[in-house]
Amino acid sequence: MTDTNRVFIFDTTLRDGEQSPGATMSHAEKLEIAQMLDEMGVDIIEAGFPIASEGDFAAVSEIARQAQNAVICGLARAQLPDIDRAWEAVKHARRPRIHTFIGTSPLHRAIPNLDMDQMADRIHETVTHARNLCEDVQWSPMDATRTEHDYLCRVVEIAIKAGATTINIPDTVGYTAPRESADLIRMLLTRVPGADKVVFATHCHNDLGMATANSLAAVEAGARQIECTINGLGERAGNTALEEVVMALKVRHDIMPYTTAIDTTKIIGLSRRVSQVSGFPVQFNKAIVGKNAFLHESGIHQDGVLKNVETFEIMKPADIGLNEANIAMGKHSGRAALRAKLKDLGYELGDNQLKDIFVRFKTLADRKKEVFDEDLVALMQDSTANTDSDHLQVRKLRVVCGGGEPAIANLTMSVGDEEKTVERQGDGPVDAAFACVNALFDHSATLQLYQVHAVTEGTDAQATVSVRLEEDGRIATGQAADTDTILASVKAYVGALNRLLVRRQKTAPDSDSKTVSMYSH
Ligand code: KIV
Ligand code: ZN
Repeated sequence: MTDTNRVFIFDTTLRDGEQSPGATMSHAEKLEIAQMLDEMGVDIIEAGFPIASEGDFAAVSEIARQAQNAVICGLARAQLPDIDRAWEAVKHARRPRIHTFIGTSPLHRAIPNLDMDQMADRIHETVTHARNLCEDVQWSPMDATRTEHDYLCRVVEIAIKAGATTINIPDTVGYTAPRESADLIRMLLTRVPGADKVVFATHCHNDLGMATANSLAAVEAGARQIECTINGLGERAGNTALEEVVMALKVRHDIMPYTTAIDTTKIIGLSRRVSQVSGFPVQFNKAIVGKNAFLHESGIHQDGVLKNVETFEIMKPADIGLNEANIAMGKHSGRAALRAKLKDLGYELGDNQLKDIFVRFKTLADRKKEVFDEDLVALMQDSTANTDSDHLQVRKLRVVCGGGEPAIANLTMSVGDEEKTVERQGDGPVDAAFACVNALFDHSATLQLYQVHAVTEGTDAQATVSVRLEEDGRIATGQAADTDTILASVKAYVGALNRLLVRRQKTAPDSDSKTVSMYSH
């Protein structure tokens, strides 16, 4: 193994991932995710798009200050004020990077109305400017996979001559396929003078479900940086999933002899946390991190796995940080056992947090005979989603439904310092309960998503509910878990309203007011 086989992992969960409609994260959540990525061994963290909003700028600056190992990168369009703003944000980092881009395909060239020569001049000017500010400059020809090859070679050469140290080749619309992805990198490495002096990166979107395959093909052809996101979060069908490319390189090292610096045992913790803060649930059969990824339910599979795990398992759950034995806890389990179990699941708790979770765990264990790992994860998600300092708090809910009559809900809720009760009818229990919330707290948010999942099997299973609301272009998500599905629904709804309130008041800088279009050059 030589260094030339080292692949850098560039995580853009906080930029391309967060850009996905509805995935907005708070300032504190971004800092937490950045710290987890840094601890996991990500080489470069794209922390945001500093010119997009005050919130993005503040998050990138703070992440730059806090990062211990990773390069911290800020995105900028091909405009001098964008690049200055990105530099202002990342300059606090031990290892800062400016990433500047422009759309080079015919369709993208038409937007700023630049001809080929004018665009080439703009690339020279902006990359030179970025390089005068920062030693580490990444340049991307957006929509590279639909750009004429001659023109792509010409602009990549200009960017390298102007000082770019990484050239990223984005498949912006998820259009390419593995062979073409490899050929494109090979073509650039062969034809562009100076290509051997820079790192080539691959940045794939998943519109045709080929992002992981396209990224790996690019690496086999010579790319040495993969751009990706946790859980494949990102616009439309998302970006290349970090966990997929990293585990593919680890498991199939025999045919892809490349290494990364990722501590793969941190994957599941990050996946859960990103799902929680973005409000995007992970699909059950998602590769590597889906709930079913290591589950063997069919008789033949179970039998095979019991005899020899390798029969049906190509990697161990522990490799991604999942503990293998899902041994249930119960009402007799003590605080130390809970702490140890949560640690196994990727949650390290302080004493106060543990005290609070222990009370919730005991309440759950009283209602449910066996508390499984999935229940504890749901409990953790619920506790971080809804806190005692929230403006709106659900106190008591009673619902009467069935018998062909409209459902009736009676809800007591704290609104600030006041406790109020109301009764409403509805078309089913959830509708009636949500009508109570709306009667107690006036708002104009509309419900964009309402999703219920059973955490485990059995009729006493907890339900996790996700709710997404939209108000004046701001989006907020809420999640809650309870064995009472209607109560979980109301808590998730109220949780989303609390987050909208925070966004309205903006006590902490948030990134929900992106006024800058990626395409206005
Ligand atoms: O998909 C894309 O082209 C991008 C660029 C900004 C790199 O995200
Ligand atoms: Zn992208």
